[in-house]
Amino acid sequence: MSRTVYVNGEYLPEEQATVSVFDRGFLFADGVYEVTSVLDGKLIDFDGHAKRLKRSLGELDMAEPISSEDLLGVHRELVRRNDLVHGMIYLQVTRGAATDRDFAYPSKDTKPTLILFTQSKPSLANNPMADTGMKVISIDDQRWGRRDIKTVQLLYPSMGKMMAKAAGCDDAWMVEDGAVTEGTSNNAYIVKDGKIITRHLGTEILHGITRAAVLRFAREAQMQVEERSFTIAEAQEADEAFITSASTFVMPVVEIDGEPVGDGVPGSVAKRLREIYLDESRKVAV
Ligand code: PDD
Repeated sequence: MSRTVYVNGEYLPEEQATVSVFDRGFLFADGVYEVTSVLDGKLIDFDGHAKRLKRSLGELDMAEPISSEDLLGVHRELVRRNDLVHGMIYLQVTRGAATDRDFAYPSKDTKPTLILFTQSKPSLANNPMADTGMKVISIDDQRWGRRDIKTVQLLYPSMGKMMAKAAGCDDAWMVEDGAVTEGTSNNAYIVKDGKIITRHLGTEILHGITRAAVLRFAREAQMQVEERSFTIAEAQEADEAFITSASTFVMPVVEIDGEPVGDGVPGSVAKRLREIYLDESRKVAV
């Protein structure tokens, strides 16, 4: 059955949804996006994603297509129309379609393009990888310098995912100036002597919405948190490693560049944080 997607104010069958060939998202990757997870038909941390979207748009001097309240309405309507139980909602805003290809931004009255669609993932919260853990490789971080803006320029992360697959692994952690920045589409963490260590915020990484929630829950549970950079060697010698993102929640990492992390099986801190995150987020889902 065809999905119903949202394009600029209209709900359409996916086959009928179109965007101009002059759209700047298509020509210049001049767009930003958000991915919000849905569990039991409810949105996880919608407010966090709406706030980050606002920030991304502001940093790029891009207009907000609709208000956050209206955006929530569109998310809910898509969940309803597609009978989405567990999965994700992808949202993208671009600077819209100018009349021609031009590096300079088009005039301010050019309407932004707003599209949203659902992705059904029945096993989202019961991902079997949470029991086995994932294997990562390290790669050079060759992305642009404003990774705090959630832009749709995702070619290098895609290449990183393919490098990981070619190595028989699940994902890649990117390294810059000797320190881990983040995973291709997630934030990276290690655990040493009970302390949770993850890179400090800055322009070098995306400020994960799941990261913010997980660190808050960890502190509330009296766990120690340190926000600083770490190396691959330190990660390989850690007791545990894990990642967070809206589509994986908290996911253990059990191998880095062929070296087992800790005992080579998912650790207790990652397991506990995953449980707390899922429980607490479900309680306040909208
Ligand atoms: N990715 N870092 C990067 C580079 C990301 O692309 C993402 C999210 C994260 C985690 O952010 P959050 O917790 O807000 O999902 C960190 C999404 C899920 C994606 O591109 O599909």
